[in-house]
Amino acid sequence: MSAVQHATHKSGDIAARLLAHYDVHARTLPWRAPPDQGFANPYHVWLSEIMLQQTTVAAVGAYFQKFTHIWPDFAALAAAQDADVMAAWAGLGYYARARNLLKCARVVVAEYDGRLPQTEAELLKLPGIGPYTAAAIAAIAFGQRAVVVDANVERVVSRLFAISTPLPQSKPLIRAATDSITPDGRAGDFAQAMMDLGAGICSVRAPSCPACPLAFACDAKYLGNPEVYPAKTPKAAKAQRTGNVYWIERDGHVWLVRRSDKGLLAGMRALPDDQWTARLDGHGTPPAPANWQKLSLQVSHVFTHFSLLLDIAVTSWPAGADDPEDGEWWPLKSLDKAGLPTLFRKASEAAMHAGERI
Ligand code: ADE
Repeated sequence: MSAVQHATHKSGDIAARLLAHYDVHARTLPWRAPPDQGFANPYHVWLSEIMLQQTTVAAVGAYFQKFTHIWPDFAALAAAQDADVMAAWAGLGYYARARNLLKCARVVVAEYDGRLPQTEAELLKLPGIGPYTAAAIAAIAFGQRAVVVDANVERVVSRLFAISTPLPQSKPLIRAATDSITPDGRAGDFAQAMMDLGAGICSVRAPSCPACPLAFACDAKYLGNPEVYPAKTPKAAKAQRTGNVYWIERDGHVWLVRRSDKGLLAGMRALPDDQWTARLDGHGTPPAPANWQKLSLQVSHVFTHFSLLLDIAVTSWPAGADDPEDGEWWPLKSLDKAGLPTLFRKASEAAMHAGERI
């Protein structure tokens, strides 16, 4: 049989075989219902799907437990203080998600009586919910037939159908191919089984085809080159920015500021910096005249659109001197409670470590 003939031989068997495999091998995850045993709590499904956007299952686990412990349902989350939610999100990254999470919980409480709407179209109207998340929630929380395509599913499907058009141009093809194999029943289990397959057996570099329940129908396996899918258009190199952060210490406390409500890491607590952005290097002028010492080590961090290399300058603030502008003294003992984004946490660790050696 030629590859092209092989490609036309897809059938409903794919869903049946995948679901049978999922019944035995489904990952146990805190937001999931076990296979074929009804639907998971919609609040848990929504929260996990927002957290899992651009973030791995391994990184999300502890945050999911923390959030559901502190805010067990939409009503509790809608009533939370913004600053508490932002601080609890610290370290997960992509902080617009946390701001939209709160907005969404408040809309669900104010306009939907504390219950998520069940259709993709209604879900799409909510803050922070795009096409992928609307489809995932409709399928997983409400059993609606929906075509759920995340990066793992893109890989599985582009291999299954040997789609050689590169991403992102291939997205409509991948969506149509996923649609063609999505069953009417157990849509949520099917979506999660596809995700599990992509996260495990159908991995990026070394797919384990002998263990795969879909090997019988996989065109890329048939062609002998699954690793080359999905084809990708090469990305432009990221811009590299430089800047400074400033560690101001006095009597067991460090000076923290609140970032502006607009722009990168908006509204998060932070160390003072010299106003680097995605487009501009920092200006290099410290927030106040003082006896600054530059550390020999730097902190690097990768954002979606640029990489950042930060120098760290430290100073001891004299007792009795006026405070620097706009901020607060935060006890070093409870710095982990400040909700610093990862970049500033890395810089703080470097500064404190340097302090120990001085
Ligand atoms: N990634 C996004 N949603 C997921 C889910 N429900 N299970 C596993 N991985 C996921």
